[in-house]
Amino acid sequence: MHRTDPLPWDSLSGISDRTNQIHHDKLYAGYVNKRNEIEEKLAGLSEKDYQAGNQVYSLLRGLKTDETFAANGMILHQIFFSILGGDGNPSGEIVSDINDQFGSVGRFYSEFKACAMAARGWAILALDHSDHRLHIYTADAQNQGGVWGSFPILPVDVYEHSYFIDFGSDRASYLDTFWHNLNWKEINRRYESARRNQ
Ligand SMILES: [Fe+2]
Repeated sequence: MHRTDPLPWDSLSGISDRTNQIHHDKLYAGYVNKRNEIEEKLAGLSEKDYQAGNQVYSLLRGLKTDETFAANGMILHQIFFSILGGDGNPSGEIVSDINDQFGSVGRFYSEFKACAMAARGWAILALDHSDHRLHIYTADAQNQGGVWGSFPILPVDVYEHSYFIDFGSDRASYLDTFWHNLNWKEINRRYESARRNQ
């Protein structure tokens, strides 16, 4: 049984409480609830249901496809909320590795922002355990674009529900505001965890 994590902060600067409440209480919580519902349904499938698994349409296919959408929706939103609520000042161990790999934090942000403008769902800074390097990956949907074995460190949600109330269609301003609310302590904690588990 998966549980909804509470928001780890009260409010953000420049992203409204209304956006955050809808995003957390309805959308993120919805993924957690649906993941639980899908897992319950899978546990209740009969041998006949499994035998009827079919790639064009089957009950099993629907549940397994939507299981990854709901699970990634839950996981990415949990990380997204956890790395916000900070002062936005880049600091810690990850900054020196970002400098090594991207040239500077400023150049990293330009690339990250460009990727987030080019994605339909998420842009994610991840440590890829296949080459032990940081990568910016993009996903058009929650169950598309993920790279196996990579550990998500800093995801940004670019679905319109993240910014339309506050910024209209101006995604670029939302991304700048997101950047200034980052909690680098938590980002470093995640990076440390990613490196420990390589
Ligand atoms: Fe979202």
